[in-house]
Amino acid sequence: MKTQRGGVITGWGIAVPDKILTNDDLSKTLDTNDAWITERTGIKERRIGGTTSGLGIEAGRAALAKAGRRPDEIDAVILATTTPDQIVPGTAATIQDGLGITGGAFDVNAACTGFVYALTVAHGLLAIGAERLLVIGCDTLSNITDWNERSVSILVGDGAGAVVIEAVDGPGQLLSWNIGADGSLRHLLKCDHGGFLYMDGKEIFRKAVRVVVDSASQAVAEAGLTMDQVDLLVPHQANLRIIDAACQRLGLPMEKAVVVIDRYGNTSSASIPLALVDALDTGRLTPGMNVLMTGFGGGMTWASTVLHWGG
Ligand code: COA
Repeated sequence: MKTQRGGVITGWGIAVPDKILTNDDLSKTLDTNDAWITERTGIKERRIGGTTSGLGIEAGRAALAKAGRRPDEIDAVILATTTPDQIVPGTAATIQDGLGITGGAFDVNAACTGFVYALTVAHGLLAIGAERLLVIGCDTLSNITDWNERSVSILVGDGAGAVVIEAVDGPGQLLSWNIGADGSLRHLLKCDHGGFLYMDGKEIFRKAVRVVVDSASQAVAEAGLTMDQVDLLVPHQANLRIIDAACQRLGLPMEKAVVVIDRYGNTSSASIPLALVDALDTGRLTPGMNVLMTGFGGGMTWASTVLHWGG
C-alpha cells in the first residue's frame, strides 16, 4: 500500500447508556437463562438506552477532548451506524451540530463492519487532503429489537466509540486495509422499515468465521507481517465463540484478543471502537504495537485493517 499522506489516531472516547440489563433480568421475561447465554455467547450484561446521536455526541466529545482538538478543527464527521435516528438526514449531521463541528458529515452503513469501513474511508480522505476527522461507531440496536423474542434480544446492546484521526506526512499508522461484501447473503441479517432485527444465527456463525479469517489473513499479509507479528486483535464482538474460533484458525492466541462482549453484548458499529478504547484505557495497546481490527456483519459485509499504533 502506497500513500504520501497517512493518519494517526490522536484521541478516543466511548459512551454507553447507564442502564445495565443482565442475563438474569432477561430471564424474568424470556425463556432463557444466564448459564445458556454465557456459555453460547460470552455475554453477561449489556447497556440499553439513549439515541444514536446522543451517544455519538458523547463519545465524539470525549475523543475531541483526548485529542486536544476544538470542533472547528475537524474537517468531517464520519458516523458508522445501522440505527440512524431518522431515515433522512444522516445522524452524522445531528452529531456535527451537537458538537459544533463546522466540517462535513455523513453516515456509513455496513452494519457491524461499519467502523472498519469508516476508518478506511477516513484514511482515503486524509490521503487527498483532509487534516482531521472524527470517526464514530454508534448503534442503538435495542430500538429495533423485539424484546418479546429471545433469539436476537439476548445478543444486543447499545453504545458508541469514537476516534480523532489526524493527517501526517508519510504512511502514518495504517499498514493495510481489506473490505468485502457478499450481497447475496443480505437475507441472513436484516431489518425492514418499521420492523425488528432478524438474524439467521446459525448460518451467520458459520459464514462469519470463514470471512473474518480470510479478511484478517489478507490484511496481515498485505501489511507485510506474519500472524505472530500481530500484537493485539480487536475483533467485532458478536459472540465469544466466534472470536475463539477465528483466533484458532488464524493461529492467534486468545490472550491477544480484546474481549468486552461480556459487558456490552453485540453493539454493532460500536463494538470494535468500544474494544479498541478498552485496550487503550487499560494500557494493553501501546505505541509500536501492530493491531489487527476485523469484523463482519449484515450485508454480508466484512473488513479488516492493520495499524502500527502510534504511526
Ligand atoms: N436461551 C435458552 N435456550 C435457547 C436460546 C436462549 N436464548 N436460544 C436457543 N435456545 C435453545 C434452542 O431451543 C436449542 O435447544 P434444543 O437443542 O433443545 O433444540 C438450543 O438452545 C441450541 O440452539 P441453537 O440455535 O442451535 O444455538 P446456537 O449455539 O446456534 O447459538 C446463537 C445461537 C444466536 C447464540 C449463535 O448461533 C450465534 O451467536 N450466531 C451468530 C449471530 C451473530 O453473530 N449475529 C451478529 C452478526 S453481526
